[in-house]
Amino acid sequence: MTTDPTQVFRPGLLQGQVALITGGGTGIGFGIAELLAELGAHVVLASRKPEHLDPSVQSLLRRGWKASAVPVDVRDVEAVRAMVATVKAEQGRIDLLVNNAAGNFYVPSAEMSPNAWRSVLEIDLFGTFFCTQAVFPVMKEQGGGRVVSTSMTLHYRGWPLMAHATAAKAGIDALTRTLAVEWAPHNILVNAIAPGPIPTEGVRKAFAPPANSGVADVFAETEKKLDAHARRTIPLGRMGTPRDIANMVAFLASPAGDWITGGIFVIDGGEWLAKSAGWGTS
Ligand code: COA
Repeated sequence: MTTDPTQVFRPGLLQGQVALITGGGTGIGFGIAELLAELGAHVVLASRKPEHLDPSVQSLLRRGWKASAVPVDVRDVEAVRAMVATVKAEQGRIDLLVNNAAGNFYVPSAEMSPNAWRSVLEIDLFGTFFCTQAVFPVMKEQGGGRVVSTSMTLHYRGWPLMAHATAAKAGIDALTRTLAVEWAPHNILVNAIAPGPIPTEGVRKAFAPPANSGVADVFAETEKKLDAHARRTIPLGRMGTPRDIANMVAFLASPAGDWITGGIFVIDGGEWLAKSAGWGTS
């Protein structure tokens, strides 16, 4: 039963599927979990912060949907393998892995500590690879599966103070294309999504750049200013929502995605193309 009047997918579309979502307890990851669960999938939320998992799972269960949680730090390959073993044991299969866990912060490259570099590369790139590699035997054995990883657009043109994250996301793009070809014979479809600005609570907090960095802090502005900023800089005239991103994941998880692999889908209201063209700068 759909509860969203703007819902475009048929109720029960993902019935019988098991979707594992890293970073699924909050923000975009939780938005993806809500839509997949609403469409009938059992969603497993994975996070290294247990305090994020419980309320999120409860909120899905309260709506009559199927959900469970598993703790994981995606940087820890043993913990990732244990997560996949737990999901396989509890749910019997994994149809969809959404690599959503990510972390970053603005820092001048010349001052970035080795640990800061390592931390973001390990969460974003290593974590994506570890999780994807860990679900491979499960998906191979069951005759196929799908992986959707989270990329970004900032590395298309370079983004000062984000050397770690842009390098990691460029790696995710490469990984997506490589695994798409390598694992196609096993009917494992590997795609990525590249979200534009989605002002979730976590992003608002995380993206406050250092006061003296010279980078505009769009997320710390008032709602009104955010709207004005979106109208000026995003061709489609508004910031994105987790549902905008979730819709693409649901599409890729559905039979409509049967012949789609190796794709990197930009979902940003036209933002990055417009920025390249100088839109909104005058
Ligand atoms: N500027 C410069 N360096 C920073 C930093 C910042 N804002 N935040 C963290 N670092 C450095 C730390 O100093 C540390 O390096 P050091 O040991 O040389 O001092 C290293 O990064 C690891 O930091 P730590 O606090 O141990 O982080 P972590 O490894 O537990 O987690 C993040 C890393 C990215 C998850 C964490 O910084 C974070 O919570 N970021 C904001 C939340 C976020 O990114 N949300 C997702 C938005 S898409």
